[in-house]
Amino acid sequence: MQFSVTTSTLDKPRAGIRAAGIAHKRKPAAGAAALDVARDGEITALLKAGEMDGDAGSRLLLPGSGSKGSALLIGLGAKKDFDAGAARKAAQALAAALVERPATSAAIAVADFQPRGKDIAWVVHTLVAAISDAAYRFTPFKGKEKTTPVQLDKIQLCVERKDAEAAKKACTEAAAIATGVNRAKDLGNTPPNVCYPESLAETAREMAKQYNQLKATVLDEKDLEKLGAGAILAVGKGSERPPRLIAMEYAGGKKGAAPVVLVGKGITFDTGGISLKPGAEMDEMKYDMCGAASVFGVIEACCELGLPVNVVGVVTSAENMPDGRATRPGDIVTTLSGQTVEILNTDAEGRLVLADALTWVERYKPKVVIDIATLTGACIIALGHQGAAILGNKEPLIKRLLAAGEETGDRGWQLPLWPEYQEQLKSNFADMANIGGRPAGTITAACFLSRYTEDYTWAHVDIAGVAWKSGKEKGATGRPVPMLMRYLLDQA
Ligand code: BES
Ligand code: MN
Ligand code: ZN
Repeated sequence: MQFSVTTSTLDKPRAGIRAAGIAHKRKPAAGAAALDVARDGEITALLKAGEMDGDAGSRLLLPGSGSKGSALLIGLGAKKDFDAGAARKAAQALAAALVERPATSAAIAVADFQPRGKDIAWVVHTLVAAISDAAYRFTPFKGKEKTTPVQLDKIQLCVERKDAEAAKKACTEAAAIATGVNRAKDLGNTPPNVCYPESLAETAREMAKQYNQLKATVLDEKDLEKLGAGAILAVGKGSERPPRLIAMEYAGGKKGAAPVVLVGKGITFDTGGISLKPGAEMDEMKYDMCGAASVFGVIEACCELGLPVNVVGVVTSAENMPDGRATRPGDIVTTLSGQTVEILNTDAEGRLVLADALTWVERYKPKVVIDIATLTGACIIALGHQGAAILGNKEPLIKRLLAAGEETGDRGWQLPLWPEYQEQLKSNFADMANIGGRPAGTITAACFLSRYTEDYTWAHVDIAGVAWKSGKEKGATGRPVPMLMRYLLDQA
């Protein structure tokens, strides 16, 4: 999909469909007014006739004829209620309406969708993200029964001259982020017989070939043994698909500048291991690599954008399977850090693969380390499917991530990491257990990670509730690529 910015008014660009916003019980403003003139007052007449009242969620399609394209009016709701949340909903309604039309090109009156307190860049980001999201399809495994393809391909964002420069910059950024989000969705949706640790390694190598600023390094099971990464190896032991530790170094910033390091949980399928999960919806555990997928997505977006920051994306990948060779509950392993862990539940495997990766990344002398993981079911109990849980060892980093989430609508919420919770990880036989009991499961998982991150500024993002959707709409969301990219853009 191609996004571009133009300073023509909505009636000017050649487009199959032109879209504008109508506030509740208001005359056409800005974009809609230009369209009204072009259509000889048709919009004013229809509004007068009560064909549309501008309620949030309402929409009206005016068919085109001849060389005149069609027009789409999106209800914005009451002007006084038009805040960022309402604008995001309007953008989503617009996107849904656009992608179901046969038109291949669209022009949008951007200012119509600008809520109070937000600049034009925010609107452009919001529109591009919403349209790209609505247009996403995952079809590589569809044989005969094809999903109807989306026709929409070219989107022109119409802005005023004074806003053009900011809008163009935002458009470039947003398009790159959309590419990254789609990469994360594709990897997440790929079935677990096709997506496994070595295939993720291959994806990293391919990306490094595609982008000059990117270098990929892969550690295989032999390398991990030599290194002493006992936790990653323990998780992968039950699988025919050996684990991998993958590093993607994106050198966009000043030479020698400390990098932002992202560490993604890449469990390509989580059966629970010997502590086997119940069968219902187990297929969704193919999404247990969505943390890793978001790291790939961010790295790709950085490459596309040439972001002037050094970023290292690390993916710690294994398949958690039950087997004669699998790790047992009660096994004690030595992690890369030298600390020992009593594995009381083999289903708490994410924190294990992360522990070794979080130790390994010390070599980068990172500015900050952010790990992203579908780590705990408890996170869904705490926050549902609205936000990621964010915890860490330094407040400013957590605050920046929360702000980035708020700005993009890809939200997070902080949970405490009080030292008292650490007691739940006590083991009688090793330095720590890998589970902390039922209470505060998301927090005790983060407590476990905190024992491997003492030497740097660190935040943990638990995306168990937001990385994918279940049910009829089943599919990866690409979250939290938007949050992380906003954070990185704010650093640049
Ligand atoms: N990948 C799961 C967490 C998960 C479950 C995410 C369901 C999204 C939906 C993780 O590896 C896991 O199994 N965690 C256990 C930890 C427990 C054994 C302490 C959990 O949350 O039940
Ligand atoms: Mn698990
Ligand atoms: Zn898992």
